Amino acid sequence: MKKIINVLFVVLLVFQVQAQPKKHNQATKELPRVIILATGGTIAGAGESSTKAAYTAGKVPIDDLLNAVPEMHNVAQIKGEQIAQIGSQDMNVETWLKLSNRINEIFEKNEADGVVVTHGTDTQEETAYFLELTVKSAKPVVLVGAMRPSTAMSQDGNRNLLDAVMVAASPNSKDVGVVTAMNEEVYAARDVTKTVTTNMATFKSRNFGPIGLIYDGKVSYYYKTLRSPEQKFDVKGLKKLPQIEIVYGYADASPKAVNAAIEEGVKGIVYAGMGNGNFNAPVGEALERAAKNGIAVCRSARAGAGRVTLFNEVDDQALGFVVADDLNPQKARVLLMLALTKTNNQKELQDIFFAY
Ligand code: SIN
Repeated sequence: MKKIINVLFVVLLVFQVQAQPKKHNQATKELPRVIILATGGTIAGAGESSTKAAYTAGKVPIDDLLNAVPEMHNVAQIKGEQIAQIGSQDMNVETWLKLSNRINEIFEKNEADGVVVTHGTDTQEETAYFLELTVKSAKPVVLVGAMRPSTAMSQDGNRNLLDAVMVAASPNSKDVGVVTAMNEEVYAARDVTKTVTTNMATFKSRNFGPIGLIYDGKVSYYYKTLRSPEQKFDVKGLKKLPQIEIVYGYADASPKAVNAAIEEGVKGIVYAGMGNGNFNAPVGEALERAAKNGIAVCRSARAGAGRVTLFNEVDDQALGFVVADDLNPQKARVLLMLALTKTNNQKELQDIFFAY
């Protein structure tokens, strides 16, 4: 009899435990779901000392990054995945394709409401723009990094990561396109650029400024880019992209770099020209030869702001060139790589550069 009473008691206890409201789970279920895709960079960097500048980027694994910022669990339901563990100077097409495909899959399968990508700052602007051009969802994709490694005194990574999660979880971030969120500022992927080598306030948009500001756990948006076309480039199944070289313009430049690119068999050249994308005569002749050989030639500018306009000092139509509009050379290269998967017709390429 005692045995039966004991069994009944246990059954009753189990039933009662199951019937308890799961307060914690219910609360977290209401939070937006954010997946953090880690790629390395200084935000995952570690150094010997908290005060010395030397460190190695891409050392700290995603789980440690997440554990360092427990506050993010109050903002979103978090999952982390390690996509790569590199300094972003080693970022490459293979990783871009992997990232883009994974983000598209996450949104197609409704695995998350927003994605954060942790990334080195050196090439973050290029990855952000690649994702802007290839991710087919209005859900937020937020890139974040740090200028100081995770082991440094006054490191910026933890705060930036929390802010980025908050931006990705915010309903206001729907439809703003891919953004970067660092140092309390949100920038459109198309416009953002790294402007200072070591300072924390490095990300800027020289032509247009930030689209949003982050403070005290909130993001406020002020502007939205009109250059985020709905028609994205389809990279599913692609293993590589056309080879594009950037050639830098300078006083008394020789045509050697352009000639080497032609010999190499590149599919496109982005010329980082002087002023409004200008070149001297020897470089101009080499670029014209490249265009005649079927290589797409895009004039961009080394100036860092403004845009490159058609038909000023250069007859682009006659020479077979296109202009990058306000894209800096490294972003013009990203767009040209993707555009060449569709066409290498001069007019169609130019239309793409004026639309995206
Ligand atoms: C990198 O881009 O991976 C190194 C520099 C940084 O993250 O700030």
